[in-house]
Amino acid sequence: MDFTVHSSADYHRQDLRTLGWETTLCNTLADHRSPCRMTLKIKDSYGNLLFDYLNGLLPFNLITHLLEVGGGYGWLMRDFICRKPFQKVTMIDISPHLLDRQKNALKDFPGAFSFREEDFLETPPMVLEDVDLALLNENIGDYPTITDLTKDFLISSPSMLSPDLKLVWEFFARYGLPEPQHPAFHINIGALMALEKLCCAHVPFIFLSEHSCEAAVAGAYRDLIHVSTSDNPECIILKGHDEFTIQFSHLEKIGRYYGYKIIRGPVADFIPFEMTARLRAIMKAPSPWRDEDEIIRYFIEDLYKYEYLLLSKEKHGPE
Ligand SMILES: C[S@@+](CC[C@H](N)C(=O)[O-])C[C@H]1O[C@@H](n2cnc3c(N)ncnc32)[C@H](O)[C@@H]1O
Repeated sequence: MDFTVHSSADYHRQDLRTLGWETTLCNTLADHRSPCRMTLKIKDSYGNLLFDYLNGLLPFNLITHLLEVGGGYGWLMRDFICRKPFQKVTMIDISPHLLDRQKNALKDFPGAFSFREEDFLETPPMVLEDVDLALLNENIGDYPTITDLTKDFLISSPSMLSPDLKLVWEFFARYGLPEPQHPAFHINIGALMALEKLCCAHVPFIFLSEHSCEAAVAGAYRDLIHVSTSDNPECIILKGHDEFTIQFSHLEKIGRYYGYKIIRGPVADFIPFEMTARLRAIMKAPSPWRDEDEIIRYFIEDLYKYEYLLLSKEKHGPE
């Protein structure tokens, strides 16, 4: 079988110098003059909007150790610790360049910070032992994805399989992942391993967001905002590396297996926008009139293309 294992680890370790090519939602909303911010009901940064949303759902008074994996420029964490000082903050990033940016963004804040330069898939489990809340924002799409698998190996004996195929076989068997419908299918194996790792470490609250392959627009804006949906992760070609959209239903299966309650939705749930007459015209236009309109249109579509999962479980609840 001619499957391919895609990894972005070398790019992140050696070549990454800027996130400018990736325009993450967090960075898009960072500038208070950004035209995208102007479309929002509450004109604020990504970190503040996410903090407010989580604050309504999680017992922040009990959260003392906060972990962020793949914190980029450190702006999301900066917003969080401005809102509430946490006793302990751990930042894990594979990119030495971005970890330096995070150190710089957080240097003036009191508290016990620990910065770890490593691939999260190699983080020792003991580092996660007392973490209360883990944040992985636009990070899991960077983890390894295996493409062009044909499903016949799923009915083989695992002892006959190569290590990569055996790993995939085990995820299907352990978590009851549904049989793939495509003749050649792709799997976000690194994202599944990352979530499995957090669940096995009993982290009580986990927030993940990423570009989804299963995104959908429900309700009033169904005919106005267009996103594509697939049951197969799709490749996004970026500078120096490929990312893959995430099959969130697989992550949900893992969370439920470990007894987590799950909230899933588009990031528009916590970044609500105002559908003004101008925004409606931008979304309806056959093609954008100005560069700014195009930026806004992509941004509004991204609020649905990006999904999030919030997993929660009592710290000492059932296994
Ligand atoms: C697309 S950026 C997102 C940055 C930030 N969270 C945001 O939303 O703007 C992905 C981040 O994940 C980090 N990353 C990628 N692969 C990783 C891995 N295997 N382990 C830890 N961090 C990783 C990158 O270095 C970067 O900081």
